Amino acid sequence: FKTLDDLDLAGKRVLTRVDLNAPVREGKVTDDTRLRAIAPTVRDILDKGGKPVLLAHFDRPKGRVVPEMSLGQIAPALEKALGVPVEFIDACTGPAPLAHALALAPGKVLLCENTRFHAGEEKNDPEFAAELAKLGEVYVNDAFSAAHRAHASTEGLAKLLPCAAGRLMEAELKALEKALATPERPVMAVVGGAKVSTKLDLLGNLVERVDVLVIGGAMANTFLLAQGKPVGTSLVEAEMTDTAREILARAEKAGCAVVLPVDVVAAEGFKANSPHVTVAADATPDDRMILDAGPKTVAEIEKRLAAAKTLVWNGPLGAFEIEPFDAATVAAARRAAELTKAGKLMSVAGGGDTVAALNAAGAAGDFSFVSTAGGAFLEWLEGKTLPGVAALSA
Ligand code: 3PG
Repeated sequence: FKTLDDLDLAGKRVLTRVDLNAPVREGKVTDDTRLRAIAPTVRDILDKGGKPVLLAHFDRPKGRVVPEMSLGQIAPALEKALGVPVEFIDACTGPAPLAHALALAPGKVLLCENTRFHAGEEKNDPEFAAELAKLGEVYVNDAFSAAHRAHASTEGLAKLLPCAAGRLMEAELKALEKALATPERPVMAVVGGAKVSTKLDLLGNLVERVDVLVIGGAMANTFLLAQGKPVGTSLVEAEMTDTAREILARAEKAGCAVVLPVDVVAAEGFKANSPHVTVAADATPDDRMILDAGPKTVAEIEKRLAAAKTLVWNGPLGAFEIEPFDAATVAAARRAAELTKAGKLMSVAGGGDTVAALNAAGAAGDFSFVSTAGGAFLEWLEGKTLPGVAALSA
């Protein structure tokens, strides 16, 4: 696909799809990571003399106008994150945004209203895409984190205007390719989280591609159960044990070493500082629930990290949101960050809770790349084609 280097942007209205789906509380953005992440693209467009006209979704209004989901509330934080003036217009189709875009002064950015206020957005309706297309002369997609959605603003527009990837889209894809498509080996993946059932495709794809797969979080309990080990009152998916065994068999066939907990921290209940014991993974008491991996498991993960050249991380290793059950996630994340800082490891992390867990560990800043994406990061790791990315190369 083309990048911003390949388009002539001087004097042009550059219709730019970004992801501004940031957490908001009482009308204020509480984490502006995604807003700051698009700054290189916006600045580049401005430097090249283009007029950035930003399109984005916010939340899931399902094709209706929901005032609490207006992008207007994001505009002040966006202006701060970009360091350039942002004008907000409460529409994304019709004469008003077009008039604004045409009159936009150099150095300014226009932000249009939530594309998901229109049913045509999620339906990828060609007529709606054509309405949006009127706002720009070229189309730039910088929303990697929404690229798993085949919507009018993420996919349809690429068919209607000369298009290119923005800088963030480029950086995300480059990091993922380096981590999984053309990695330096050994490649290690850490996959955590609550459920095997939501990460089946991910585990299935990874065992074929990586050299070491660490399975953590509550999903590891299902694997322990599949191996006939007691799991007490732990969160498990008993109906997934056959699947878990299949994944282990596939890993063995593919030469992928799977690291499961060899010891666990088992607590009375899912509560901060709940009374707990550290026991071998085959000795969880009947009345306790596994909330974290134990120190021997962490030592094994650290040993594997030291031997790895590439790391992909998705999901916490334990109940990282309650103390002290964040210990394994924090220790492993810090070790990965140290090795990365020392130039020994290329590390990529992403997806939902992962970034929050790495931030809490103070480790995210030293990872080689932290994705802004949740679902899109997962789908990429699952080996799926992302419609928003594919449309840029079509
Ligand atoms: C995200 O927050 O992961 C993206 O913005 C996509 O949002 P969606 O899951 O509502 O499509």
